[in-house]
Formats: sequence, structure tokens, C-alpha cells
Amino acid sequence: MPRGRIGATALAGLLGQWQGEGPAYENLAERIQLLLIDGRLSADVRLPSERELSERLTLSRTTITAAYRRLREHGYALSVQGSGTTTKLPPTAPDSFTEGGEIDLVRATLPATRRLPEAAVEATRRLADHMTGPGYTLWGIEELRAEIAARYTARGLPTDPDQIMVTTGGQSAIALLARTVISRGDRAYAESPSYPNAYDALSLAGARIITSPVTTDAGWDMPAMAAAIARTTPVMAYVMPDFHNPTSRSMSTEDRLRLLHAAAKVDTLVVADDTTAELNIDRPHTYPPLAAMAGEHQARVVHIGSASKMLWGGLRVGWIRADPVLLTQIASGRSATDLGTPIWEQLVTTILFQHLPEILEERAAQLAAGRAALYHAMREHLPDWELPPRIDGGLSAWVGLPAPVSSQLTLAARPHGLLVTAGPRFGVDGAYERHLRLAITPRPDLVRRGVEILAEVWPRAASTPALALTTSEAVV
Ligand SMILES: Cc1ncc(COP(=O)(O)O)c(C=O)c1O
Repeated sequence: MPRGRIGATALAGLLGQWQGEGPAYENLAERIQLLLIDGRLSADVRLPSERELSERLTLSRTTITAAYRRLREHGYALSVQGSGTTTKLPPTAPDSFTEGGEIDLVRATLPATRRLPEAAVEATRRLADHMTGPGYTLWGIEELRAEIAARYTARGLPTDPDQIMVTTGGQSAIALLARTVISRGDRAYAESPSYPNAYDALSLAGARIITSPVTTDAGWDMPAMAAAIARTTPVMAYVMPDFHNPTSRSMSTEDRLRLLHAAAKVDTLVVADDTTAELNIDRPHTYPPLAAMAGEHQARVVHIGSASKMLWGGLRVGWIRADPVLLTQIASGRSATDLGTPIWEQLVTTILFQHLPEILEERAAQLAAGRAALYHAMREHLPDWELPPRIDGGLSAWVGLPAPVSSQLTLAARPHGLLVTAGPRFGVDGAYERHLRLAITPRPDLVRRGVEILAEVWPRAASTPALALTTSEAVV
């Protein structure tokens, strides 16, 4: 029995702009495969009937039949008499190198800090003081809010614990803010490329997303960003000034000031995502948090952060630093989706925060090792690919491909046990077929092997026709 179903309209929304060169049925099947690989479409979900989808996409029934057949042939769907066509994720052929596992260059996450076990024991001891309560908090425990506030203060932004709300991870912080600030049809600004789950949270809140580009060599196109903000007066601008995901670029002081100026002119709320901000490998400059540079507009700059990349994703602890009035608004709507953050995880985070400088050194060393492995392996095996001129922090490399075939490459790599995310996942309109994001977080031997697999499958991917070439990519 399928776990659920997706309607034709919802599927059409996920498909976005999928048509490209080559037969429509192949493009459609490949797009659905990609949605399954990058998790936007779940396995075990019943697809719309062929008739419904053909009407919704205004395509012939034969095209849909052929696309579904292609999905079945490739192991991405199953047809059961009477139950229609259901999605499936085929098993990857395990690579002997990883002893049966997959090489995951998708998830840009580090393993838990080595300090975690000790902090967990100490948190369990401290739990006794909290056991008479419900075990979770809407705003966060006082000691953690104080630690987070102290960290912002130390980085150059004096902060009071009242300006901090602890959330269930950084993603929940983005979603809570988006839901509070955005009304259906409002515009929201985000960089392009950007963190895909942020795009999704903004869209889910009803925003129409406006973008301007960030590239690994030139960084932010500030005239384009300022013009987009001035022209569309977005209610919110979601940005990553430090170690931007996926490019790993950081904004210069001048660019930060230009962004703040453009936003202040039209009273756009700036949301700076600090999730990766402290993952400095060897960037020579340090910058204060963005709000510290906003002068009289400081209350219009919100920071969000997360313990996930610095400490461990399993803690599911994040936060929002904002004006207490905005936080109160967020708190009053929060219970509809999330009653609060568990106390034990907050205690662990509080304890680990006390060792943050040492933990950040541990992280810098891990990221430097992943970066070195990637650069060496790419120069050896894929010399035509464009590496970012410099990655001095963050979790990933935004790599340029010699041909717009990122989706095909992602599909070709999977049967070899290598998971990568195609470039288009990082754009709003299906652009970035010429890019691939590779995480530098796995063990160096796995990063190296991942690149070798990419080199093995590249000739085949490069010789297949391009999928979904959008105008923005076509003209670059
Ligand atoms: C830029 C950025 N923001 C937010 C998040 C979400 O963080 P969390 O795991 O704390 O929900 C991520 C996770 O990948 C991220 O890369």
C-alpha cells in the first residue's frame, strides 16, 4: 500500500520547468527521478493517474505512459494492478570502498563534536533541575539564551537574552520567521543560488521570491541586489553574508553596508542566516554580525543560527536573534506547528557553547581536510571542471561543470553509490545545470572516492542531451 498520494497539480508545481532537449517522456521521467533523489518527492507515494497528469501538463497520454514506464525500468516506480503507479527509490549499488554504505556528498554536515559524549553526561546530571516542568520550552532555557547572547556580544553585537528565542533547529527558525513576516503574495528576496530549504520555507509562507546572483569568483552582484530590492520592496531579505551556502563566499564590509542601505530604504526586514558563519577555515577577516553594522536600523536585522553544523545536527537546536517585539509575535504563532525545543538538547548545547572556541578549531581542521581532498582529487581526475577560486570556510564547494548536465550526472552517480545534489536544487527557476554542490564535510578518503566516481560517470552524463536549460543559464 502506498504511504500517500500526490495530485497532478502538486506534482506539476514540484516539476517546475522541466522540458529540455530530447523526448518529453525522458525529460519528465528524469525530473521525477531527481525529485526523488533530492527528497522533494518521497518514495512510496502514488503518482497521479496518467489521465490526470496528461490533462494537467497538457501532454498526450502516451507521453505520460512512456514516462511512467521509464520510471519503472529505472527502478523509480512500481505499478500495481488497481493501485496505479507508486514512487520508489532504487537501492544504490554499494561501493566496496565504503563497506556497503553510500558516499554522501549531499549532506553538508559534520559528525558530532568529540566533546559531545561528555556534554551529554553532564546535561543528564543537570536535567534533575528541570524534571518537574514539561521538558520543553517555547522561548528556550535561560542558560542557553544567555550563552547565545554572550556569543553575539563577543562577536561585536551586544545582545540581551531577551533578544533570543531558541528554536528546533535553524530550519524551524527560518520557517517561523517566514510565517510571521510574510503574507500570501508578498515578495521575499533571497540570493541565487541559496539554501534550498529556505526557498521552500519562503514559498510555503506564500512569498514570491526575488533573487540576484552570487558567484564563486565575483561574489554578490550588489547593483543587481540593490535594484531588485528597490524595485520589488520585499518584506524580507534572506541572506548568508558569511560562508554562503552553496558558494562558501563571504560578503565584503562594503557589500554588507550596501545591502543594509538598500533594505533600510524600503524597510525590508533583513534575515541573516548565521548557520555557517562561524565555520571559518582560514579566512583572514572577521566581521561582526550584520546587525552590528545597521546603526539606527538594527531592529530591522534579524539573525538566525544553528547548533547543527558547529556542534551536531542531532541536537536540533537553533535560534532567532531579534527585537523582543518580533519574537513575541513569533512566539504567539509558534504553537500551531511546534510547541517548543526539548530541554535536554538545550542543556547539551549550553555546555558545548562553553567550549566553542576549541570546537570551532576542531571543525576548521575537519573542513580543511575535506577541502584539500576535494581540490587534489578534482585537479587529478576532473581538471576541466571549475573549482571555486578559494574556499576559506563553510561546508561545500560550488563547482562549475563544462556542460549543463548536472541533473544527468546526479542520476548517473547514484547507481555507483555516490549521492550528490544537482545544481538546479539551489535555484528557484531550474537554473544551475552547469553547477554541482559537493560537500567538503565527509572523511577525506570518501571525498576522494566520490570525485573518482564522478570522473568515471562524467563521459556518459556529458554525452546525454541537456535537461531543462533555462534562459538564465543559456545566456551565461
Ligand atoms: C544555510 C543553512 N541554514 C539553515 C540550515 C538548517 O539548519 P538546522 O539543521 O539547524 O535545521 C542549514 C542546514 O543545512 C543551512 O545550510
